[in-house]
Amino acid sequence: MFMSLRRTPENTVTVTVNGQQITAPEGQTVWVTMALAGQITTRKSALSAEDRSAYCAMGVCFECLVQVDGLPNQQACLRRISDGMIIETQQITETTEAPLDDF
Ligand code: FES
Repeated sequence: MFMSLRRTPENTVTVTVNGQQITAPEGQTVWVTMALAGQITTRKSALSAEDRSAYCAMGVCFECLVQVDGLPNQQACLRRISDGMIIETQQITETTEAPLDDF
């Protein structure tokens, strides 16, 4: 579905996307890394729990929110990957209980 126009990346890093280890060019965005790996669901709709994915790919729509290294609400289209990064589809929905004790 998606393919990179880069032929031979100079430096690569390894990240984990929903449990899948992926080696990708350093500096590539989280969204591009996910799309090239065939994982296009970035989050679940807060209301319907349906799959959502990147739309604008330029930081405007906030459809691409993912969890990065345990931190929710990271924009996959703007965030750059780094070695060892753990990226997960964000599962926050209307029924998610927030750990208010942490605040
Ligand atoms: S895809 Fe629109 S903000 Fe990331």
